[in-house]
Amino acid sequence: DPRQDTDPVPARAQDRSAPGAGSEHLPLDEAFRNEPDTDVALPANQAWAEGIAARITDRRWYEELPVPEPVDAADVERLVATGRAAAEDWHGRGARERAEILNRAADVLAARRGHLLAVAGAEAGKTLGQSDPEVSEAVDFCRWYARRALELETVDGARFVPDRLVLVTPPWNFPLAIPTGSTVAALAAGAAVLHKPAPEVRRCSTAVVEALWEAGVPRDVLQLVDSVEGEVGQALVSHPGVDRIVLTGAYETARLFGSWRPGRPLTAETSGKNAMVITPSADRDRAVWDLVTSAFGHAGQKCSAASLGILVGSVAGSPRFRRQLLDAASSMVVDWPQNLQATVGPTIDEPGGKLRRALTRLDPGEEWLLEPRQLDDTGRLWRPGIKTGVAPGSFYHRTECFGPVLGLMEASDLHEALELQNAVDYGLTAGLHSLDPEEISTWVDLVQAGNLYVNRGITGAVVQRQPFGGWKRSSVGLGAKAGGPNYLVQLGSWQKAPFAE
Ligand code: SER
Repeated sequence: DPRQDTDPVPARAQDRSAPGAGSEHLPLDEAFRNEPDTDVALPANQAWAEGIAARITDRRWYEELPVPEPVDAADVERLVATGRAAAEDWHGRGARERAEILNRAADVLAARRGHLLAVAGAEAGKTLGQSDPEVSEAVDFCRWYARRALELETVDGARFVPDRLVLVTPPWNFPLAIPTGSTVAALAAGAAVLHKPAPEVRRCSTAVVEALWEAGVPRDVLQLVDSVEGEVGQALVSHPGVDRIVLTGAYETARLFGSWRPGRPLTAETSGKNAMVITPSADRDRAVWDLVTSAFGHAGQKCSAASLGILVGSVAGSPRFRRQLLDAASSMVVDWPQNLQATVGPTIDEPGGKLRRALTRLDPGEEWLLEPRQLDDTGRLWRPGIKTGVAPGSFYHRTECFGPVLGLMEASDLHEALELQNAVDYGLTAGLHSLDPEEISTWVDLVQAGNLYVNRGITGAVVQRQPFGGWKRSSVGLGAKAGGPNYLVQLGSWQKAPFAE
């Protein structure tokens, strides 16, 4: 196994700042707690991080990693039939046994943290600071949904009947946490899963699926299906034997999938066009930091990223605030993930379409506060850009661009800021920086988004504490949030009917 033979990454250091915390087994009967991220300030962890950087540089091990076999149209019937048959046994084992397996998967993933970070760095360009919390979140999803599965079986005399076969199609931008969370939720509910990786991150998905197999999820219950495009993808998505699609991706993809299976279950977490409002009462130093990290972390390639800063009243007119913002953004280290100092990594591909337009073009009224600049000939490494003067209703106000660009808008008061923040089709994350309690409560009442963040950054939801999910066009067929108490009940129905058809 190339991962073992060439793996120079030592086990993750256990001498954490929080004594007793860390990658310890959490028995199923113990209450959920969040897995801590790595404290890279600890000397032992510095050596560990350098080992990962060295692996990302030396790509030989990476080239040998397994990727799933491609699927063709002739395989679709077999995959669906296998999954549906396996679901019966999986559901029949009962919630306790499924939960034990998924709880064990948390341990497998936690023990493999260094390897997962190396794969995410090499394949997706994720910097360690961005991918390390993803492993924690993946571990959390396993432990959380395992515990929620135990509560599912019967409520008020009605029986939970899970979907039998779920097609999970995760995105490339969170290549560890989201593939794990979506898959484990369906498995915890009692469904079998066809896991179709995003084409850009096949190796990350494969690493996650292998960890779940190793923990005891049968291969028939969790099948890895190579990224299938075109006809095969359509055949799977529209197949009557696939009870539900769980998609994380663009709103347009959700619409396309919906058109392929009209009226049938599709659960999708989709796009965002997220803004942070900064009022004159804000702690401006804090707001600057939260805005640039929310905008440019993972080069802005997050559905949760801050794409707009809406500056209110005297903040809008303050040259000092703009200077601070410019300094903060210019001092971010833009580099490939083997540079452990990098805070902004590469884009997944050379920017095209909407992102290229946002990085290279100014609309009427706009100016660059910081002009984006391509830093090497791969086309993927960009110094972030900040545009000012984004006009209400303009392209950049309303369009998700998914990259290292931030637009600034101006509002005379909080109500005008809310109008601008709400005047988009999406409603995923939203931020407010204000130290005025009345402003905070007005904003919380009126803002139209699923995840609200006050006086902090707007990315990085945490299982149990900040479940994640949007409204408006940021979510399709999704009520309860991922990582929250009620997510699993959406993956089936409450019936008196038996499970078998
Ligand atoms: N859960 C991620 C975040 O909160 C987005 O998918 O940033």
